[in-house]
Amino acid sequence: MEIHIDLTGTRGHRDAIYRQLRAAILAGRIRPGEALPPTRELAQRLAVSRTTVSAAYDRLTAEGFLAGRVGAGTFVTASPAERPSPVPDGPGVQPLPEWDAVPPPPAPFAPAPEFDFRPGVPDLSLFPFDTWRRLITQRLRAGQADLMTYGDPQGHPALREEIARHVGVSRDVRASAAQVVVTAGAQQTTDLVARVLLRDGDLAAVEDPGYPPPRLVLGARGVRVAPVPVDASGIVVEAIPAGTRLVYVTPSHQYPLGLSMSLDRRLELLDWAERNDAVLVEDDYDTEFRYTGRPLEPLHSLDSRGRVVYVGSFSKVLSPALRLGFLIAPPSLVPALVKARYLTDWHAPNVEQAALAAFMAEGGFARHVRRMRKVYRARHELLVRGLASFAGFLTPLPSSAGLHLSAVAARDCGPLVRAARRRGVRLYSLGDFGVGERRHGLVFGYGAVAAERIEPGLARLRALADEGAA
Ligand SMILES: Cc1ncc(COP(=O)(O)O)c(C=O)c1O
Repeated sequence: MEIHIDLTGTRGHRDAIYRQLRAAILAGRIRPGEALPPTRELAQRLAVSRTTVSAAYDRLTAEGFLAGRVGAGTFVTASPAERPSPVPDGPGVQPLPEWDAVPPPPAPFAPAPEFDFRPGVPDLSLFPFDTWRRLITQRLRAGQADLMTYGDPQGHPALREEIARHVGVSRDVRASAAQVVVTAGAQQTTDLVARVLLRDGDLAAVEDPGYPPPRLVLGARGVRVAPVPVDASGIVVEAIPAGTRLVYVTPSHQYPLGLSMSLDRRLELLDWAERNDAVLVEDDYDTEFRYTGRPLEPLHSLDSRGRVVYVGSFSKVLSPALRLGFLIAPPSLVPALVKARYLTDWHAPNVEQAALAAFMAEGGFARHVRRMRKVYRARHELLVRGLASFAGFLTPLPSSAGLHLSAVAARDCGPLVRAARRRGVRLYSLGDFGVGERRHGLVFGYGAVAAERIEPGLARLRALADEGAA
């Protein structure tokens, strides 16, 4: 192991080696079970005597950080969590108080609950593992050194071409690869757009109820965020406050209600954006999965004024772990967005981008979408059928796309959701997605729950509702 120890300017070499190794172990940089270099080797590397290194090792061994195994070497012992973590003397560096208002990130998604009705999670057991392994291996085996250096902040050119082609065919979004920016997903897109368009204190609007991350991302950037109600036709344009500079919407499949924004409302919103010099961020996160009817034209296709940033994500179609998505922006915005991406984290990983481009070019991506659409359509039907037995308590909202379905109720479903979680059924209450107006109801994701688990999961929920947990 290549441990970095810096002895420049130090006099007590033994103490310095001891302190730096101890700090590395406590910080978890050297993990339990890892071997330290032999004393002779480390002494040579640091140009100190072997007894100096041995003395430092001995002290760490005496304190329980290290253990020697005869003939095998010296190893780090228990996990640093079992030792007292270094406590600073003072309060330490404090973040800006604004961060107190930002909720902590969600708990890790794994392990999955017994009945997983969480919205927004695809069936990862059906991820095309073999194909993906082949595509990644091919890129690595080919010795493509150009993939191992800094890439294009706008995104791998071949992937941008494929994305432009994909949205052109599947969504009638007309855009060239020059308008595509590959992102780390919808969340980063919101951040990039906010960076290049909004100043501290500017006003943005989000749907209420709505997808929480855009609201949180904008808020954390110092933007004032107005929750705007949604009716059966979509966001209520009249309720968007004067002075709003950005509106984040989910027209194809409103999150979480599942409704589609009407054509009239789309045109009204575009007209409003033009009159108010605002940008519309159109999150088209899951429309690859449409089960009945033709989707309405995206705002992007109806827009002739360059007011719409179209947002896509590979999180639902492939896996959220890839952290790959894209935006399609008016040409006027692209250079600034690319600079913002560069300054954020330079670019998405090259090998994964190239693998995805190849997956799309060879037709595997389209086949995967078709296969998953069939799987999810069957689950959607089962869920709708199963929810019929909740009549009188739940009324499903019309929804013919995506990976989730919402149902409204006459009373607060929070207690039922909490009781269900305790019994292994994981789902959300509609109220969890509201800011101003908290609607009563439940949100059922069916991406992560296998078809044969849907009815047993609903049965358990039904029993809890009948017991009065609702
Ligand atoms: C409304 C909405 N947009 C976008 C996404 C995808 O987000 P990301 O691309 O950041 O994973 C999700 C995922 O749950 C979503 O529900």
